[in-house]
Amino acid sequence: MHEDAIELAKSLPKAELHMHLEGALQPELIFKFVGRNGRDLPYRSIEELRAKYEFTNLQDFINVYLVGFNSLASAEDYEDLANDYCEHAQAENITHAEVFIEAQAGSSMTGTPLEAILGGCIRAAEEWKKRGVELLLIPTFLRHLSENEALKSLDELEPYYDNIVGIGLASAEVGFPPENFRRLFDLARELGLHTVAHAGEEGPPEYVWGALDDLGVERIDHGNRAIEDPVLVSRLARDQIPLTMCPLSNLRLCVVDDLRNHPLKKFLDAGIKATVNSDDPAYFGGYLNTNFEEIIKALNLSTGDVRELVQNAHDASFEAI
Ligand code: HPA
Ligand code: ZN
Repeated sequence: MHEDAIELAKSLPKAELHMHLEGALQPELIFKFVGRNGRDLPYRSIEELRAKYEFTNLQDFINVYLVGFNSLASAEDYEDLANDYCEHAQAENITHAEVFIEAQAGSSMTGTPLEAILGGCIRAAEEWKKRGVELLLIPTFLRHLSENEALKSLDELEPYYDNIVGIGLASAEVGFPPENFRRLFDLARELGLHTVAHAGEEGPPEYVWGALDDLGVERIDHGNRAIEDPVLVSRLARDQIPLTMCPLSNLRLCVVDDLRNHPLKKFLDAGIKATVNSDDPAYFGGYLNTNFEEIIKALNLSTGDVRELVQNAHDASFEAI
């Protein structure tokens, strides 16, 4: 019954706008990099690692995600990781991907130099551009740390300002409101960078207002809880602010109890530019097409809905700078 919509979603050329590169780190790659870099892992096998992929909230996930992330040490690792994602992207007809990279966490927590992080990703992006997948990079900043640390990290990215398309705000949300990062977002805009922020995933609608009014972001990542505030829904529709939604992530992190209760269709019906994305595909059970498939089935989406979702993502894309 949903076959036409699912087939259409698979076959259309698509843009993906909310995908954390380190969230595309499959267990096989984690073990490969750990071996190559002589690092230790608290898990002995891929099965033991995968058994940890049961989450009850965002923090739970971040704790496991950070373990994997510690396997990344060199430009070669980042290039292999980006290549692996782009292979999946090409197989799924994704022609344009704007991916988050953990520049701040990578350099400050695991000590990987920015030249390795950015250098490896840029090499992969150059190669995949020739092969029909445009890969744009959006470094994310950690909202559970101070704005001064984020500003330092943005400053360290200076040699790469021409290689990144924008900045984002991610990590644990509740207790870390957007308004803490006003100076960071003002500065990014002055530098000619686009701006996006995670908001309303676990945090309240006020955080979505904060991302819009205090940070001036162009897109909201997730935005689920905006559905609780009709005035906010009208604002998102009026200003045509895209929401980069991630159905399987929301299910696996218990942001929704059942995909049938996911707000995506309500946002579309309210005239909001909602989009479908995979967030952290190695951890949440699938890449973009699986997210389309599951949300089509859960919400009875039509071929018209699919066309609208896919078009919204193209419309909401940033251009390579
Ligand atoms: N939310 C916040 N931070 C993240 C996420 C997410 O879904 N994925 C990776 N970092
Ligand atoms: Zn995310």
